[in-house]
Amino acid sequence: MSGSPQTLELRIDSLAAGGDGVGRAADGRVVFVPVTAPGDRARVAVEPGGARFARGRVVELLEPATSRTDPVCAVFGSCGGCVWQHVARDAQLEARRTILRDAIERIGGIRLDAPPEIVACPSPYAYRSRTRVVVEAGRVGYRRRRSRAVCATSRCPVLVAPLEEALRALASRPPMDDGEWEIAAGDDGNVCTTRLGARERAPGRLVIHAAGERIERSAGVFAQSNALLLDPLARAVLEAAGSGERAVELFSGAGFFTIGLARRFEHVVAVEGDPIAASDLENNVGNAGLSQVEIVRTAVEHALGLPALARAAPDVVVLDPPRTGLPRGLAPAIGALDAARIVYLSCDPATLARDVSTLVPLGYDLVSVRGFDLFPQTAHVEALVVLERRLRA
Ligand SMILES: C[S@@+](CC[C@H](N)C(=O)[O-])C[C@H]1O[C@@H](n2cnc3c(N)ncnc32)[C@H](O)[C@@H]1O
Repeated sequence: MSGSPQTLELRIDSLAAGGDGVGRAADGRVVFVPVTAPGDRARVAVEPGGARFARGRVVELLEPATSRTDPVCAVFGSCGGCVWQHVARDAQLEARRTILRDAIERIGGIRLDAPPEIVACPSPYAYRSRTRVVVEAGRVGYRRRRSRAVCATSRCPVLVAPLEEALRALASRPPMDDGEWEIAAGDDGNVCTTRLGARERAPGRLVIHAAGERIERSAGVFAQSNALLLDPLARAVLEAAGSGERAVELFSGAGFFTIGLARRFEHVVAVEGDPIAASDLENNVGNAGLSQVEIVRTAVEHALGLPALARAAPDVVVLDPPRTGLPRGLAPAIGALDAARIVYLSCDPATLARDVSTLVPLGYDLVSVRGFDLFPQTAHVEALVVLERRLRA
C-alpha cells in the first residue's frame, strides 16, 4: 500500500512489547498506536504500509479508556524513557503479564497453563537507583522517542530522590564531556556521576544490600536498578537456584547473585566478561569471607570450552544475560553442562523465549515463569524462568 495516511476509527485492545497500543482495523491489519491505552476509542491516522501491520497516530481521542491516568512528567510524550505514564498501574501490570505470556507462547512455542505472576514494584515512581543520561552540547537528558535527539530534562520522577537531585545538578552545570553518563546511587544515598565508556575504573564506589548480602561495585559497572525490588529479586533467583554441591553462574557482574549462591553451594564458577565487574566480584567474594568461588574473567562464549566449566558438572546454571540474550551457539553449550536446573533471569521476553525454545529440545522442561515490575512507567518486562532437566528413561 502507498500514498497518504488513511484515517480510521480504532479501539485499542492491548499494549505491545514496545509500549504502543494495539488495535485491529476492519481489514484485519494490526495497527500500533503510541500513547494509547487499552479501551481507548480513537480516530487514528494510519501510515501506508504492509498488508498485516501498520503504524498510526491519534488524531482525536473519541473515548478515553478507564485504564488511563494522568502522566506526572513534564516531558512525557517526547522523552523516550517512560512510554506508559498515561496507563494506570493495574493496566501496566496486566500488560506485562500478557507481553511475557505472549512471548513464551508465540516465540517460545510453549503453552502456559496460567498467566505468569508479576511481582509489582511497591511504588510506581521514585524507585530507580541507576540511570543513563546523554550530554550533548550543554544539554542533559534522555533520547527522545524513536530519535537520537536529546530530550533535555532536569527532572525524572522515576528516580530515587538522591538521583533526581544529582540529575538536577548535572543539568544545571552540564559537563563539557559529551556522551553517555551514568548516575547511580548506593542504598546509603551516596551518588556517583560517571562518564561511561572509559577503559579505566571510575573512582566512585557504590554499595547495595540484598538478600542479606553486601555488594560493592565501581561506578559504571552494571547493577540492578530498582532500589525497591533488589531484595525480592535476589531472593527469588537464589530460591530458584536452591542449594547443592556445584553452581555455574554466567554473566555474574559484580556478584549480586554470586555471594548468595556461594552460601548455598559448595563450589561456584562465576563467569563475567567486564574486567572491572570481575574485579569487583573478586573483592565482594573476599569481603564476604568466601573461598569457594572460581571467577572466570572472559566472555561466556569462550568460557564454556575452558576446563573450569568443562569439569563443573553443576547442579544448577544461573544466567542473567544482557537484553540480547544468549550469544549464538551458547544454548547448546549450556545444555551440554547437563545441569539439573537452569535459572534464567532476562530483561527481554523475546530473547528469553527464543533461548528457552532452544533449551527445551536439549532435554529441559519449562517449570516456572515469573515477571518483575522492575521499571514501572516503561514497557520493560524482567522475567525469571526455571527449566528442569527431563527425567531420562
Ligand atoms: C544483566 S547484567 C547482570 C549482572 C549481574 N547478574 C547483576 O545482577 O548485577 C549482565 C552482565 O553480563 C556481562 N556480560 C555481557 N556480555 C557478556 C559476555 N558475552 N560474556 C561475559 N559477560 C558478559 C556484563 O558485563 C554484565 O555484568
